[in-house]
Amino acid sequence: MEKVLNPEVLTNNYTVQVATTEHIPLADAICFEMEESAKARGTGIAKRSPQYLRDKMQEGKAIIALDDEGQFIGFCYVETWEHGKFVANSGLIVKPEWRKYGIAKAVKMRAFELSRTNYPDAKIIGITTSLAVMKINSELGYEPTTFSELPVNDAFWNGCKSCVNYDVLTRTERKHCLCTGMIFDPEWEKNKAKREEEALKEKQEKHEKWNFLKDVKVLERLKSIKEKMFLRMQMRKVKRQVV
Ligand SMILES: CC(C)(COP(=O)(O)OP(=O)(O)OC[C@H]1O[C@@H](n2cnc3c(N)ncnc32)[C@H](O)[C@@H]1OP(=O)(O)O)[C@@H](O)C(=O)NCCC(=O)NCCS
Repeated sequence: MEKVLNPEVLTNNYTVQVATTEHIPLADAICFEMEESAKARGTGIAKRSPQYLRDKMQEGKAIIALDDEGQFIGFCYVETWEHGKFVANSGLIVKPEWRKYGIAKAVKMRAFELSRTNYPDAKIIGITTSLAVMKINSELGYEPTTFSELPVNDAFWNGCKSCVNYDVLTRTERKHCLCTGMIFDPEWEKNKAKREEEALKEKQEKHEKWNFLKDVKVLERLKSIKEKMFLRMQMRKVKRQVV
């Protein structure tokens, strides 16, 4: 029977960290949960062996969420493709009784941070049918993309072989499937910063120019008013002298 948890404990009492060798004994439980959840959803999460997860933990390429007894409650791992051009934060799983408390979000955020630190120039990608994952990815700055923007190498797509929809993917020659592709491109951030800097510079230049021109116009108007006044005063003076 599943453990019934107090919601207050759920919201407060867990930790999220980069998994270490200390967590290796938890790999079987994580794998079991992945398989159960794939069965329940009727779709697939790329099937991974406990040894694959153990390797990820050993390499410091996995994120684990633990309850206060040190038991696994959430997990995901980092994979690279095409010599580090692409990074995927895959195999996201949260134990059923811990779902909808922000644990997946916390795990994905930590995996995203780890990926950005270790592979700052890599595109971070994912394919998913999960609305929760799409929401989390969007918050992290991913955008939906076509499969043509994802890695071309077979190793990436082989992960889909355990999915019940794999025939759709092969029939469409990897152009479409039920999953949505999502991507975060670090170039966007660089370009965004560059664009913002350029826009600010342009605005400052325009602002200075605009002020200058505006001031000249004001000065010209003032000068002309003064000249007219002075002229009128002179005329009156001349008139008075004539009289
Ligand atoms: C998908 C999964 C990881 C979500 O875990 P979770 O801890 O419940 O997710 P969170 O609580 O962090 O929720 C993140 C966001 O998704 C939303 N969400 C969570 N579950 C959802 C669901 N079933 N349907 C729609 N939205 C959902 C949350 O409301 C939250 O949105 P918000 O920030 O706007 O409030 C979990 O349900 C799971 O392990 N499912 C089975 C495995 C799986 O599908 N993995 C993904 C493979 S790509």
